Amino acid sequence: MSQQAAAVSLFERETLIDPYSAFKTLRDQAPVHYEPALDIHVVTRYELVREAIRDAKTFSSKFDGFLNKSREIMFAAAPPEVQQKLLDINRQMLLLPPTMLTLDEPEHTRYRSLVSRLFTGAEIRKSEPTVQAVIDRSIGSLLSGHKDGAGCRQADFMSAFAFPVPLRIIGDRLGIPEADRPFFDEAATAAAAALRLSPLTPEEMVHRAELALGLQNLLTALVDARREQPADDMITILANGRLQDEARLLTHAEALSILQQFLVAGHETTTSAFGWGMVLLCRRPELQAEIRGDAGLIRTFVEEVLRMEAPVQGLPRLVTRDTTLGGVRLPAGSMILLSFAAANRDERQFEDPDRANIHRPKAGMQLAFGSGVHFCIGAPLARQELNLGFRALLDRFTRFRLAEGASPQAEPSFILRNVPELHIDYQERR
Ligand code: HEM
Repeated sequence: MSQQAAAVSLFERETLIDPYSAFKTLRDQAPVHYEPALDIHVVTRYELVREAIRDAKTFSSKFDGFLNKSREIMFAAAPPEVQQKLLDINRQMLLLPPTMLTLDEPEHTRYRSLVSRLFTGAEIRKSEPTVQAVIDRSIGSLLSGHKDGAGCRQADFMSAFAFPVPLRIIGDRLGIPEADRPFFDEAATAAAAALRLSPLTPEEMVHRAELALGLQNLLTALVDARREQPADDMITILANGRLQDEARLLTHAEALSILQQFLVAGHETTTSAFGWGMVLLCRRPELQAEIRGDAGLIRTFVEEVLRMEAPVQGLPRLVTRDTTLGGVRLPAGSMILLSFAAANRDERQFEDPDRANIHRPKAGMQLAFGSGVHFCIGAPLARQELNLGFRALLDRFTRFRLAEGASPQAEPSFILRNVPELHIDYQERR
C-alpha cells in the first residue's frame, strides 16, 4: 500500500528551509511517503533508512539518472543559442564515468579500495599540521573583524571561516598549485553548488559550464604532472595508484570523476556543519564554556551538530527488484529518497532529538555520513576539520552571539543544508 501524509508538502520553500516538523509528521504517519512532485518515496524513520542503505542489492546507488534529469530539465528550458554554447563546451569535456557514489559492488569496490588509501589513519594524522595551519589563518581573519569600543568584534562567520577553511584544506590536500588557487576556488565552489539542484539563469549555466571545463583541464594537467614527478598529495596517489584487480592506472576520466566527487561531496558539507555548529553555540551560549578545552565533549558536540542539521539532507536509491519497505510496496525501477536529516531526529532512536546533548551516549550513531558500503569516505577528514576548528575557535574567542537582527536561515534545497551568511559578535579571549 502507498503512504501519503495529507498535510505535508515537502518541496515547498518554507518546508525546505525548516523541514523538521514535516519530517516528524512523516515519521509518525507515513515513514515511506510517496511524493508525487518527484515521483519518489521519502524514507524518514532511522530503522528504515538503515535497513535500505544496508541492502545495496535491492536499493542501488545507480541514481545518476535522477540527478541528470534535473540538469536536462534546466538545459531544455534554456534558449537555443545558450543550448548551442553549452553543447560546444560539453564537446570539449571528457565524459566522466561513474566511480564511487553512483556505483554498486563490485565496480564500486575497485575504486573505493584505491581511494581509501587517501583517508587512512596515517594520512589523516599526517594532514593535521596542514589542517591546523589553514584554521589558524582563518582565525586571523576573525581577529581582524570590525571591533567596537567595548572590544566586541563582528564578522560574517561563513565568509571569514566556514567557507574558506574546507575549501583551502581540500585544495592543499589535493596539491593545487598556489598560482591556480583563485580559479580552483571559484570552479570548485561552482562544482559543489551543482548538487543544490537549484534553477540557474542561462548566463549562470554557461559560466558554470566554462568553469567545469577549466577545472577539468587544470586537474588533467595535474594528473599528468604528478605521473612525471610525484609529490606528497592526493592527486599523486590517484595518478599513480593501480586498480585492485586490473593492476592498471586510472584513466584521466576516472581520476577526474573521483576528484569531482571530493569537490562536490567534501566542501560545502563541511562548511554547512561549521555554520550550524556556530549557530548552536550562539543559541546555547552555556555550551561554549562547557566544551571549551575538552576534546571529548567537542567530539560529541560535532556529532550532535551533524545529527541535528545533516549537511547532506538525503540521497536517492534506485529500487532494483519488487520489494517492500516499512510495509509499503516498491516496484522495481522506482526511486526512494533516504532522508538522513529526518532519521537523525527520530525519537525512536534518539531521546529528546530536537535538543543537542553534548553528553549523548553513542552520538556517533547519527547518519549524516550515511552507512554501509558508501559510508562517507571523507568522514575522518571532515571530523578532523570540525574538531580542530571548534577547538581553535573556542580557545581564541569567547561570547559568540548572533549579531543584532541576524536570523540564520538555510537555503531551500532538499539535498544540501547551507547557511549563506551568519553574522556574529564575539570577543577575544585574554
Ligand atoms: C561534514 C562533511 C561531510 C558530510 C556530511 C558527508 C556526507 C556524505 C554522505 C551522506 C555520503 C554517503 C553517500 C551515499 O550513501 O550514497 C558521503 C559519501 C562520500 N563522501 Fe562525504 N561527507 C562529508 C565530507 C566529505 C569529505 C571531506 C570528502 C572528501 C574529501 C567526502 C567525500 C565523499 C565521497 C567520495 C563519497 C562517496 C563514497 C562512496 O560512494 O563509496 N565527503 N558523504
